[in-house]
Formats: sequence, structure tokens, C-alpha cells
Amino acid sequence: MTMTRFALGPIDDFKTFPAEVLVDGIPYWLVRGEENRYKLLMALCPHAGGEVRWTGELFFCPLHFWTFDKQSGDCLNIRDERLVRKDVELQEGILYAIGDAY
Ligand code: FES
Repeated sequence: MTMTRFALGPIDDFKTFPAEVLVDGIPYWLVRGEENRYKLLMALCPHAGGEVRWTGELFFCPLHFWTFDKQSGDCLNIRDERLVRKDVELQEGILYAIGDAY
């Protein structure tokens, strides 16, 4: 089985987090968690596809005001909803999105 892998770029190119990135043309937020573990959160709202924005504290969809946790992408005002995730790994100074979105 082959794992899909998409280069996001050198880690040193990312100065602030979350950072906006495109993976296969789809917008994501690249977030940095504890112990420098990275993750992608899709920047399209799971409700009706609004463009999810960063407020400085959390993610926010301007269409119907759903909000999402800055690390997990879990929805803060609608139970059991969350942003779609994608795993990230760091290899030799390059960040890669790996595997399928889930
Ligand atoms: S599309 Fe985001 S809250 Fe409705």
C-alpha cells in the first residue's frame, strides 16, 4: 500500500502558525501542537463549505458562526462536528501532508 505524500515546504519557511496552505488545491490551516507536532485542518466548513478563518484564538466560519478549536479542529458550538484533518510529518526539514483526509 502506498501512502500519498504532499510536500508543504521547508519548516523554516513557516514563521507563524496557523499557516494557510493548499494541498492539491484544497485550502487547509497548518497548525502546530505540543512538542512541535503538526496537523492540517481543512479550511472549508463541514456545515456548508464556508471559508474557515483564524481569529487569533480559534477558527471561525462567517456563514453561520460555527467556531472550532485551534488545535483539534473540534467544533465548539455544535456537538460532534469538526474540521476535516490530515496528518503531517517532518522529514529532513520538510513538512509533508501524508495519507488521506479524515
Ligand atoms: S457553512 Fe460554516 S457555519 Fe454554516
